[in-house]
Amino acid sequence: MEVIVLPTAADVDMRAADVVAAQVSRRSDTVLGVATGSSPLGTYRELARRQHEGELDLTRISCFALDEYVGLPVGHPACYASVLERELARPFGLPKGRVRVPDGSRPDLERACCDYEEAIARSGGIDLQILGIGANGHIGFNEPTSSLSSRTRVKALSAQTRLDNARFFDDPADVPTHCLTQGLDTILEARRVLLVAQGEHKADAVAAAVEGPVSAMCPASVLQFHRAVTVVVDEAAAAGLALTDYYRFVADAEHRLRQEDA
Ligand code: F6R
Repeated sequence: MEVIVLPTAADVDMRAADVVAAQVSRRSDTVLGVATGSSPLGTYRELARRQHEGELDLTRISCFALDEYVGLPVGHPACYASVLERELARPFGLPKGRVRVPDGSRPDLERACCDYEEAIARSGGIDLQILGIGANGHIGFNEPTSSLSSRTRVKALSAQTRLDNARFFDDPADVPTHCLTQGLDTILEARRVLLVAQGEHKADAVAAAVEGPVSAMCPASVLQFHRAVTVVVDEAAAAGLALTDYYRFVADAEHRLRQEDA
């Protein structure tokens, strides 16, 4: 696992955008896995800026969302299909249909989950999965005690997640109780993973994910099994890490190597 600790949240946005941009430069029709929530918004805005300034062409990528609420009416401003249309598809200039989201409005939710897995497989699989992390260690909406080998499925949201996400709704009681989420095993199949976290409220979750034991109590810790994970955090989110000096040493050494190669 590569852990990059940067001074500020703005630095996290820039570095995460660099990782995505490098992937898209390698493969213009990259399949991106995309998180919603606050953590990746600055990254999406920086990518949109680069696209706008002609520094990057994102128009050939396609995207799969991590998750979606169950039961929100189509077009509800807080549903992840709407959020990704607003924050990603439009600013990136993606044609319709290029951002797919699990369909939480279908009567047959099990079928919707299977269809979603099939759509990811048909696309050739996710090249780079962007993740945030919940304060309780969830990734996607795989709440603590989720099976480490779970696939896309219906999941009940924890009380903490519903509270954390109440800021996106007029009334906390409007936060749905259930969602569809890619499973932990689905996430592990992505070829690369980029996790971003900012702020002290993420410090415990980041420490448990990166340095704790692999445990369903911290679902993000399953990423320790993945070969190509980059974690980009600001100092506040890194506050619980024991090995920050080592991560900095590794990052500096790699930077020096890159400069020698150039
Ligand atoms: C969102 C998602 C969640 C969020 C997590 C952090 O699609 O899958 O795992 O990444 O809840 O949310 P924020 O970024 O709002 O703190």
